[in-house]
Amino acid sequence: MAYEVLARKWRPQVFQDVIGQEHITQTLINAIKAGRLAHAYLFSGARGVGKTSVARILAKAINCGQGEPGIPCNRCHSCVEITGGSSVDVQEIDGASNRGIDEIRELRENIRYMPSSSKFRVYIIDEVHMLTLPAFNALLKTLEEPPPHVKFIFATTEPHRVPVTILSRCQRFDFKRIPLALIVKHLERITAHEGIEISKSGMALIAREAEGSMRDAESLLDQVVSFAGPKVEDKHITDILGIIDRALLFRTSASILEGSAKKCIEIVDQIYNYGYDIREFYRSLMDQFRDLLVSLIDQEGSLLDVIDTDRAELKLQAEAAGREKLHQCLSFLIQREESLRLTSHPKLVLETILFKLCHMDEVLGFNNLITKIEALEGRLESLSGSDERMAAGQVSDPGSVWETQKGPDFPEETGPLAISSEDWARFLNSLSSDNRSMASVLKEWVFLRSSGDTIEIRRGESPFSATYLDDPERLEKFRQSCSQFFQRHLNIKIVNGTPHHQEKSGGSEKKTEPQGAEQAVASKPIQEVLDVFQGEIKGEVPVRNKVTGKQGSSGMARREKP
Ligand SMILES: Nc1ncnc2c1ncn2[C@@H]1O[C@H](COP(=O)(O)OP(=O)(O)O)[C@@H](O)[C@H]1O
Ligand SMILES: [Mg+2]
Ligand SMILES: [Zn+2]
Repeated sequence: MAYEVLARKWRPQVFQDVIGQEHITQTLINAIKAGRLAHAYLFSGARGVGKTSVARILAKAINCGQGEPGIPCNRCHSCVEITGGSSVDVQEIDGASNRGIDEIRELRENIRYMPSSSKFRVYIIDEVHMLTLPAFNALLKTLEEPPPHVKFIFATTEPHRVPVTILSRCQRFDFKRIPLALIVKHLERITAHEGIEISKSGMALIAREAEGSMRDAESLLDQVVSFAGPKVEDKHITDILGIIDRALLFRTSASILEGSAKKCIEIVDQIYNYGYDIREFYRSLMDQFRDLLVSLIDQEGSLLDVIDTDRAELKLQAEAAGREKLHQCLSFLIQREESLRLTSHPKLVLETILFKLCHMDEVLGFNNLITKIEALEGRLESLSGSDERMAAGQVSDPGSVWETQKGPDFPEETGPLAISSEDWARFLNSLSSDNRSMASVLKEWVFLRSSGDTIEIRRGESPFSATYLDDPERLEKFRQSCSQFFQRHLNIKIVNGTPHHQEKSGGSEKKTEPQGAEQAVASKPIQEVLDVFQGEIKGEVPVRNKVTGKQGSSGMARREKP
């Protein structure tokens, strides 16, 4: 006899065989018993979760003359014909290939006839969302006045694409994805019956890959057995299906949590050499951290779709790490997902991310960061003498304004600019959402007035703040933010606050002057801290040290007092 694939061989034949959809099967059994059937049903849900199976069982159950109410006998003439797909009264129509008005018209012609040998004519239309609009309209007419001997069962994976007019005339059932544990249990039953040797963790691997679809799980099992024969090892499964071993994921999360970068890099190497998809691995790793975190919150374990041994291990690992750290790791993974998605060097990026995760403990919390910034500001202030000299040295063209560079197009400027102090405060608030450090420094500055297209502002008091906008790039960024916020091309005029700061302003052509580099000396430490916070240490950039005249490797670290 020809080999029958598991998914067909194991198609449920009575409601009781349908796994994980009791909310539907029980309702249908009750309706049959009470004789209160709807004219039309809509079954929605992912593929391979039992929609077609339930539709056929329902068709059999309402036509079976022998079984108990709600339980088809599967032996009578009607049941056998329906199971074999040869019944003239129960027709399955594929909505994807019969989607036009003509097919539906033909269907409407046919439903006028009484069933030949059963109680009901049943039309099962699969993927009903594929019908054309005229076809839906024709169908609607039938649904409005259905003959009593006709039942419709529509199935769809995309219920949102079914017109509401149709939906409102159907009794709707949403099929759920089948939980992993139930899939594993079912696979156990199948493998025992079919004489397949496979470990429970192996079945869990398959079930996980099936993502809630029983048919996918059965097909994957077929695939594995056809390669590995009746004795299946876990390694066969991971090799054949190209999926990541759970053990490997546990090893990865453990290595991250114990901060062992070396182990992490070795794992990446292994993944790479096995030819696993790096991005796929990353997704699994995100799921792993999600599961770890959830295992701490979810006492009953109903939110964790894993087998029991995994559940215990998750909990063990999670409790050792603690909620805060897991949360940090997961956020970081989510935050960095895009960089992995966009790169053409996934292995390198993955290594970098794991490396960083291993040093998560060293990443500072926000409060720590503020303290550190304050400490740095303090240190800068103590160096203020030299800073002032530097600032004075850079000043040129007092009173001129930072020229408008061609930027994005803003609406036609109408009349002179009128910005109030409130407007300014609103602007700084909005600035803080995309450039927090700039906004907080500029809150020390004073908004004086706006005239024409120029905004006049006065430097902040502290040396760091006072020279903050002397960096041409930063000034240009600031100008652009202003322009963006007030929706017009603006110039910035900077007025000195304290006597030792002369009036300073920039022009676009001054970008090439050495002052930019000199300013970087003052601003670099802050930038470094921000870099730490955002996880983007970009290495050290040599800048010329104004004070000593020497080349320093980074602004702050090597700086000597004069
Ligand atoms: N809930 C379920 N319980 C048991 N087996 C199922 C279930 N859902 C799907 N299957 C298996 O998958 C196969 C295909 O299911 P089917 O009912 O055609 O899914 P759908 O119509 O939702 O895509 C069935 O023959 C059966 O082997
Ligand atoms: Mg189907
Ligand atoms: Zn029967």
